[in-house]
Amino acid sequence: MFALAYASYSTIDAQDLRLEELSQKASLKNARLGITGYLCYDHGVFLQYLEGERQRLLDLMVQIEKDPRHDVINKVALGEQDVRVFPDWNMHYLNRNDLRRVDLEHVLEHSLFHMDPKMYGQENIVALITALVANIAARQATLSAA
Ligand SMILES: Cc1cc2nc3c(=O)[nH]c(=O)nc-3n(C[C@H](O)[C@H](O)[C@H](O)COP(=O)(O)O)c2cc1C
Repeated sequence: MFALAYASYSTIDAQDLRLEELSQKASLKNARLGITGYLCYDHGVFLQYLEGERQRLLDLMVQIEKDPRHDVINKVALGEQDVRVFPDWNMHYLNRNDLRRVDLEHVLEHSLFHMDPKMYGQENIVALITALVANIAARQATLSAA
């Protein structure tokens, strides 16, 4: 099980993104590929976490990066993982309200800000993303019930 996360800037308005539809489509395709994870969006910034078989994940990431709806600013390979953290989420969309509800809004902002590789070392970014993933994983059941 390989995991990676990335942050990107959306290139189009939030309404035009149709985020629910985007994540539903992503979910269907991820289900076919055995990929799971979540997608956060807030104020023009995406933060996505993906886990699955390494090569399938890297191939999908190539496609995601080509998507004109966003510009990827930093990709973080989290490496091989022993367990799948989000088995029930083929692509779960989390908005600011979801994160506020589980008191994680500040963590998201923090992570997005610190994802800039020009400002922080990749090791610190990996540590931060790992902490965010663990936080969201711990609140998975509550977030699924949204
Ligand atoms: C922020 C963002 C996240 C995306 N996440 C996924 C994803 O997790 N899985 C996926 O299949 N497509 C995702 N997409 C869509 C892909 O970029 C691409 O449109 C899609 O994989 C094309 O699939 P198709 O050629 O099989 O129709 C995402 C797009 C954006 C803008």
